[in-house]
Order: sequence, then C-alpha cells, then structure tokens
Amino acid sequence: MNYEKLKGLIWFNGKLVSARSAKLHILSHGLHFASVSFEGIRVYNGEAFLLSEHIKRLFDSSKMLEIKIKYTRDEIANACKKIIKTQKLKEGYLRPVVWRGGQSMAPGIKNAKINLAIAGWEWPIYYSNLAKKKGIKLTTTKWKRPPVECAPVKSKCSGLYMICTLAKHEAEKKKYDDAIMQDLDGNVCETTSSNIFFIKNGNIETPIADCFLSGITRKTVIKICNKQNLNIKETKINFKKLKSYESCFITGTAAEITPVNKINKIKYDTNNNILKKIMNNFEQLKKQN
Ligand SMILES: Cc1ncc(COP(=O)(O)O)c(C=O)c1O
Repeated sequence: MNYEKLKGLIWFNGKLVSARSAKLHILSHGLHFASVSFEGIRVYNGEAFLLSEHIKRLFDSSKMLEIKIKYTRDEIANACKKIIKTQKLKEGYLRPVVWRGGQSMAPGIKNAKINLAIAGWEWPIYYSNLAKKKGIKLTTTKWKRPPVECAPVKSKCSGLYMICTLAKHEAEKKKYDDAIMQDLDGNVCETTSSNIFFIKNGNIETPIADCFLSGITRKTVIKICNKQNLNIKETKINFKKLKSYESCFITGTAAEITPVNKINKIKYDTNNNILKKIMNNFEQLKKQN
C-alpha cells in the first residue's frame, strides 16, 4: 500500500480533513530533526485494543522529547474512535503522530507549534497465518541499541527508528524476516519493531527493557504469564546464551505474538506448549476487546 494515497479522512489538529489534503510543511522541524513521537494501535472488531495504554505512552514519549500535547487523553481517545468510525475500520490500525512545526530550522526550538494527526486504515494481519504457525527467522545486525545516556531509548520516537530501518534492510537482504538487536555489551534487546521472549525448561525469560521500548504487548504477555502462574523472569540475556533456549517468540502491536523458528543457525521449537498457551490467551484477550 502507498500510504500517500490513503483514502478517507485524517484527524488533523482537531479537525477531520481529507487524507489527501492532510499535509505537513517541507520545513517542519519534525521532518528534519526527528522531533516526532507516535503510536501504533490495533483495531480488533471495530474497537481500538489497549487504547488508554497507547495514549498514555504517546504522552510519555512526547514528554521525553520535551513536547507538550495540547489535547487531553480523552480528546485523543475520542479522535481515535472518530477515525475508526469514519474509516469504517473492523480489523485495522491507527497511527497517531505528534511533531514540531517549522518555526526553526535549527535543533533548538522554543515555542514550536505542536501538531497531532491520527490516521487509520484497514490492516488485518502483519505476519501471515503461516508465519504464526511455522515461525519467522531472525538474524543479527551490525546496528546496536544505543545506551540510555545516548538517546530517549524508552520512547516511541521516530529518531530511534533510523537504526531499526537499517537493521531491517540488512536482515531482508540476507533473506531473514527481521533483525535481533543487541546492546553494546552483546545483550539481546529487541527486534526492529517487537520485543522478544525465550522459553527453557518451562521457564520464560525476556530481556530487561533498559535501553529499548518495553512494548505494550510485552507487558500484556508478562501479565498473562503471571495470571496463568507461568514462570516469567526479566533478565539480562547475552547473545551467547541463545543456544540454550528451546523456544523463542516476539511480541508487538503489529506482530502480536509470533514464534521464531531460527536465529542465525540456532533452531527453535515453534510448537512449545507454553508458547501455545500464551498465544491462546492473547487471542482470548483480542476477542474480549
Ligand atoms: C522498536 C519496537 N520495539 C518494541 C515494540 C513493541 O511494542 P508494542 O507491543 O507496544 O507494539 C515496537 C512496536 O511498537 C517497536 O517499534
């Protein structure tokens, strides 16, 4: 899909405007200096999934960029609902985005205009049903996650996706589905758009989210595990440890829960009972939406 040709309406600074006319200026600060925060929200059965969690994160990410959103959380939630209705979304996706306007062409920018737009489109699946069954393939990348002192690493802000795009391209060139990113000490962090979990001897482990996004789906999976009395631990996972695990899966708004069948040459079982249990529980949550 060419998103520049999206049909219908976009909520743009408080008004519904035609998607074709919802434009930002070439000299927007956000475009040049990455002063942009955004969200990705799934719509299941005509309702936004975990909407308040996503709106809270939009505020948290914006705050990390010293951006003050002038709308309330309720106003943004209502705007999301309006887009679901006007775009007639059943199984879809919402993309709220916040950016600084063009009041300066230098990094420092005080009193910039803060813009907020929300687009939505029908988007039933990201990874195919086959991938959900057989798993996806991950590979390593030369791009490392920056440490917390070097970037607002816990935000969902566009600047951090520069390395994700490069890592994803690197993986695709090697015929893998995605890249697994590490920190500067060789600890596993996340993929380019999802978090990662491992299973061994009935125990589930996921990296401590110290220099990457602790996704909303990641938190949902941790809650599922706790509720189901599954043994889940957040811990440092050095890349060298990866061959010791039996199963692996990724989590994200787009990926949902998708098994991983391979990281480089290491193979993983995609039929693991615990993995299936977590996937089933997540499907139940979606149905309750
Ligand atoms: C870099 C990155 N990590 C993790 C995630 C997973 O986060 P969530 O579950 O909130 O979608 C995403 C997707 O938003 C992401 O882009």
